Amino acid sequence: MSSRSSYSRFLLLTVMLIVSVHCEFHTLAHLKPQANDKTQGRAVVELLKRLMGSRSREFIVLVNRSLSNDSLDVCELRSAKNNKIIATGSTGVAVASGIYNYLKYFCNCHVSWSGNQLNIPHPLPQLTGVLRISTQHRFRYYQNVCTVSYSTVWWDWPRWQREIDWMALNGINLPLAFTGQEALWQEVYQSLGLNQTEIDHFFSGPAFLAWNRMGNLFQWGGPIPQSWHVKQLYLQFKILERMRSFGMIPVLPAFSGNVPQGITRLFPTANVTKLGPWSHFNCSYSCAHILDPRDPLFLQIGSLFLSQVMKQFGTDHIYNTDTFNEMTPPSSDPTYLSAVSRSVFASMTSVDPQAIWLMQGWLFFSDASFWKPSQIQALLNGVPIGRMIVLDLFAESTPIFSYTKSFFGQPFIWCMLNNFGGNSGLFGTVDRINFGPFEALNFPNSTLVGLGLTPEGIEQNPVVYELMSELAWRKQPVNLAKWVSLYATRRYGSTHENLAVAWKLLFRSIYNCTVPNYRNHNHSPLVRRPSLRMNTEVWYNRTDLYEAWRLLYQAAPPLMTKETFRYDLVDITRQALEVLTTEFYIDIRNAYQGQKLPELLTAGGVLVYDLLPELDRLLSSDSNFLLGTWLERARSLALNEAEAQLYDMNARNQITLWGPDGNILDYANKEWGGLMEDYYSQRWSLFVNTLVECLDRGRPFRQDSFNKAVFQVEKGFVFNGRKYPSKPHRDTYEIATRIFLKYYPQALKRLL
Ligand SMILES: *[C@@H]1O[C@H](CO)[C@@H](O)[C@H](O)[C@H]1NC(C)=O
Ligand SMILES: *[C@@H]1O[C@H](CO)[C@@H](O)[C@H](O)[C@H]1NC(C)=O
Ligand SMILES: *[C@@H]1O[C@H](CO)[C@@H](O)[C@H](O)[C@H]1NC(C)=O
Ligand SMILES: *[C@@H]1O[C@H](CO)[C@@H](O)[C@H](O)[C@H]1NC(C)=O
Ligand SMILES: *[C@@H]1O[C@H](CO)[C@@H](O)[C@H](O)[C@H]1NC(C)=O
Ligand SMILES: *[C@@H]1O[C@H](CO)[C@@H](O)[C@H](O)[C@H]1NC(C)=O
Ligand SMILES: *[C@@H]1O[C@H](CO)[C@@H](O)[C@H](O)[C@H]1NC(C)=O
Ligand SMILES: *[C@@H]1O[C@H](CO)[C@@H](O)[C@H](O)[C@H]1NC(C)=O
Repeated sequence: MSSRSSYSRFLLLTVMLIVSVHCEFHTLAHLKPQANDKTQGRAVVELLKRLMGSRSREFIVLVNRSLSNDSLDVCELRSAKNNKIIATGSTGVAVASGIYNYLKYFCNCHVSWSGNQLNIPHPLPQLTGVLRISTQHRFRYYQNVCTVSYSTVWWDWPRWQREIDWMALNGINLPLAFTGQEALWQEVYQSLGLNQTEIDHFFSGPAFLAWNRMGNLFQWGGPIPQSWHVKQLYLQFKILERMRSFGMIPVLPAFSGNVPQGITRLFPTANVTKLGPWSHFNCSYSCAHILDPRDPLFLQIGSLFLSQVMKQFGTDHIYNTDTFNEMTPPSSDPTYLSAVSRSVFASMTSVDPQAIWLMQGWLFFSDASFWKPSQIQALLNGVPIGRMIVLDLFAESTPIFSYTKSFFGQPFIWCMLNNFGGNSGLFGTVDRINFGPFEALNFPNSTLVGLGLTPEGIEQNPVVYELMSELAWRKQPVNLAKWVSLYATRRYGSTHENLAVAWKLLFRSIYNCTVPNYRNHNHSPLVRRPSLRMNTEVWYNRTDLYEAWRLLYQAAPPLMTKETFRYDLVDITRQALEVLTTEFYIDIRNAYQGQKLPELLTAGGVLVYDLLPELDRLLSSDSNFLLGTWLERARSLALNEAEAQLYDMNARNQITLWGPDGNILDYANKEWGGLMEDYYSQRWSLFVNTLVECLDRGRPFRQDSFNKAVFQVEKGFVFNGRKYPSKPHRDTYEIATRIFLKYYPQALKRLL
């Protein structure tokens, strides 16, 4: 009896042990910081110096990996002698996040893409007892495979350094590190026998590499100069070294099967399939050649590449590749799909036996009609359970884990996407991100191993990324109204009552999108090619937006010296003018359709001769909204004028035509000073003039001939050769005042 019960207890214990080991994915145990504790501590000390200069000496930093016995990051802060703060954490990232938490909630400070507010109290506020922050999430992932093209493509090392500091402060420990991989691909293809012509026909230009890597796009914007490879490689070495010094685990690239056409010349019997065109491109620039993962050549190329990666970049044993991104597989047979993923994984483990495959789950969303649960299961279960991590890429809108039984047992990361194309515009899903991660954690038999940020573009809506990052360190959802009040106070370093009220209004309207499957892709008429059939829908409550605008504007005078405030005043005024553009467009359309020339002249005149020029002046007055910065950074990477022109074309084309013929027109639209004047405004001017002419002469408006004419305007911008300022111009407050006085009353009137 007693022996039986102890036996059953033993059995029970064994089962519990197996279950708990299974849930913690011991297969992922080797994904951990490479740098020793001391190196990680030093990295944080250097970060603090960059951030706060001599005040950094008031922090004593210690990294001690034994603080965590389950690989979950933790940081403890306490007061020490001489008003110093001691921060001890399990990794560099943990300490940096712990200190940022202290800076936010005890010092009322803030660090963001659009400025820092680091008015640190003297002396440092004391802590009574221990301030302990810890996370339930092994991994905090960062970046979409598109972020490199939409946001970071032209960055130099100082800008990357700031970003990696931001990552550490916000707790990121699993960043994508894709820079410089083309240099390695080139070596692989050269070693296989491809000549330079064939390689040049494969790579796209720098601004389009994300889609080249995924097999969507070739040659467009290229060829890539050799100097690009050298510079990017050098940058990647620095990026990796810095990431690792904080204890981050960089995710490196692997082979997906996407090969240059020249491979078919070298290996005529290899099973290479030519796919159909991607998006609105023809086969001159798309139609990938995909090598069947089951072909022995796949293993050969995949392992050649991964060996190069490991030799040049070292490794942390985690690799990203996406087969079938926005491309339908040749067969939906589960046996085929399992064989594909088994082969992709085998090409990784042949070089790195400890490889973990990180996959973006975007395909399951973008091609949902193909990827039914049995196809998803087949693809995922071709890889041993726990040797793959799936990014639930757009989980704030359309979580996949919930209808795939937690990705059929593969670990996954719940990600917030939030932004498409790096578009400008206030937007957030704060309610969703506040609850979503906890629902994923509490899901029956959840395989959640982390939270992530996967925006296509960054440097907008800092509030949303700060909230999402913070939620990884919370035990339960936050009170959003309280959270955002504190955010307002620390972002501006001011307790002016308008600020918290304004932010609460924004949080219950434009930052609280709950429209099912809504994609934050800026379709506002302002940034789209004009027609008589534009989308005029505004999904959020405009009253709240305008009231927040008024509150911020009226709080402005003493706060204009703060970059964070100036940025937000520009941004909210910009948002209001974006909505008003839609209102004027409706007037224009109605006037045209009602054949009312005077009304058409009035609405068109206000839009083209006042509102858009004012908006351009407003944007041009703040360094965060300048076309000139984007272009200047692109040119600065060139060695000579020919390279400069290529980069300039890449930079301009991506944010406008997106392809030679406007193939993905305006997908990556930006509301920037310079672009407003010479691109959007020119287009609107042509539209209004054309409509006026049509009414005047009694001719119908023909969209197709307008499109031909406006394409010349659009192309004209890409090749206009004009240099745009990369320094702000004129006084933001003066411009914002003029706009407010003129347009706020109109905005209110139009609500009625
Ligand atoms: C690290 O933490 C462990 C566990 O708390 C402790 O035993 C050890 O002394 C610490 N090491 C250092 C260098 O502080
Ligand atoms: C270490 O593990 C034990 C037992 O699981 C747990 O009670 C303790 O809180 C853990 N310590 C830390 C620092 O996480
Ligand atoms: C590369 O190979 C292709 C196909 O054989 C050939 O047409 C082309 O001229 C070659 N280019 C160079 C630079 O050798
Ligand atoms: C594809 O489009 C480009 C750009 O418009 C054009 O030059 C080329 O001839 C087209 N190619 C094919 C195969 O239609
Ligand atoms: C070649 O690959 C395609 C798609 O990957 C597959 O459908 C086909 O059966 C393969 N052909 C051979 C001969 O293996
Ligand atoms: C969770 O897993 C256990 C053990 O495999 C299984 O018995 C149970 O049905 C699962 N629960 C759900 C809701 O899937
Ligand atoms: C956001 O919207 C949801 C659904 O309408 C609502 O339940 C929630 O309270 C809102 N959140 C905020 C912060 O207003
Ligand atoms: C928008 O918000 C205002 C102010 O709270 C409210 O009066 C109005 O009813 C709201 N409008 C809609 C369409 O919900």
